[in-house]
Amino acid sequence: MQTLAENLTSQAISPTLEKLILTLANTSKEISHAVRHGALAGVLGATEQENVQGETQKKLDIITNDMLKDALKADGKVRGIASEEEDYVVEADANGEFLVCFDPLDGSSNIDINSLVGTIFSVLPAPAGELTENSFLQAGRNQVAAGYVLYGPSTMLALTTGQGVQLFTLNPETNEFLLTDGAMAISKDTGEFAINMSNQRFWEAPMQTYISDLLLGKIGPREKSFNMRWIAAMVGDVHRVLCRGGIFTYPTDNKNPEKPYKLRLMYEANPMAFLVEQAGGKASTGYETIMDIQPTEIHQRVAVILGSANEVDMCLEYHAQDYSEEPSL
Ligand code: AHG
Ligand code: MN
Ligand code: MN
Repeated sequence: MQTLAENLTSQAISPTLEKLILTLANTSKEISHAVRHGALAGVLGATEQENVQGETQKKLDIITNDMLKDALKADGKVRGIASEEEDYVVEADANGEFLVCFDPLDGSSNIDINSLVGTIFSVLPAPAGELTENSFLQAGRNQVAAGYVLYGPSTMLALTTGQGVQLFTLNPETNEFLLTDGAMAISKDTGEFAINMSNQRFWEAPMQTYISDLLLGKIGPREKSFNMRWIAAMVGDVHRVLCRGGIFTYPTDNKNPEKPYKLRLMYEANPMAFLVEQAGGKASTGYETIMDIQPTEIHQRVAVILGSANEVDMCLEYHAQDYSEEPSL
């Protein structure tokens, strides 16, 4: 089986990007090790600290953030870093070619129940000049690489550099990522959806109507039964979509009017959208293609609807309709 390093050499990418991806992959092996030791290493549980988004940080959020930050600073080709767990952008090497945005541990609420977690990353070109937050505010279309590492029963790396999506599995004996799927492809159609149903009453009319029609199954307008899954870690839900198709959404809701969206554009939605598009799927907010959004701040949040192309299109048809005449639910 091909190693990650061998596979990267066969891709049309620069040696510096190749090295950066290996830096990310090697750090994820250390994260995998820490996650796997769990309670034995005393890494479970929360801290007293909150991140800039007002979320209590878990011990592993901070440990994994520091591991990635240190490794990327030492890489030599990274100009700056933006992380879910860093309030502001972090300067790395003055001569760096790349910006890296990451969610060091996605699905933190799963840590203490020994369930799926992962790391998500997005690589952008570094513009010339002084490093500021503005340097990072590039549309997802600009990404030169993106991926995630899933710390599950096996540790897996899904990667795109714009040449399809490759899936690597970490061999625990040799600690090497080996290519186990050279071309991940999302089925165009699906009978499976992923959404946090407990927010139903807070959604906008298009999503209310779309999901109601899925739930009606064979007796509804879709004339087909749908199954539901929710892992509470985007990385796990998107991995399932890449493996066997599906539609995943964290839509707009009015539960907290100051926070209508949950997922973060720069280090959750954009890298996942790049992977999904490269695997033949689609990723939208309902009104706009995710990767075409011009970001305005590094921690901005966005509605996400992604997965099997025909099912995302169907959901977008619901968003194109006029609901103004209908009573609100
Ligand atoms: P994080 O742990 O990095 O803050 O992200 C969690 C996100 C995402 O991974 C997941 O899809 C969603 O939050 C789960 O939200 P609910 O708690 O509403 O299920
Ligand atoms: Mn996350
Ligand atoms: Mn996180």
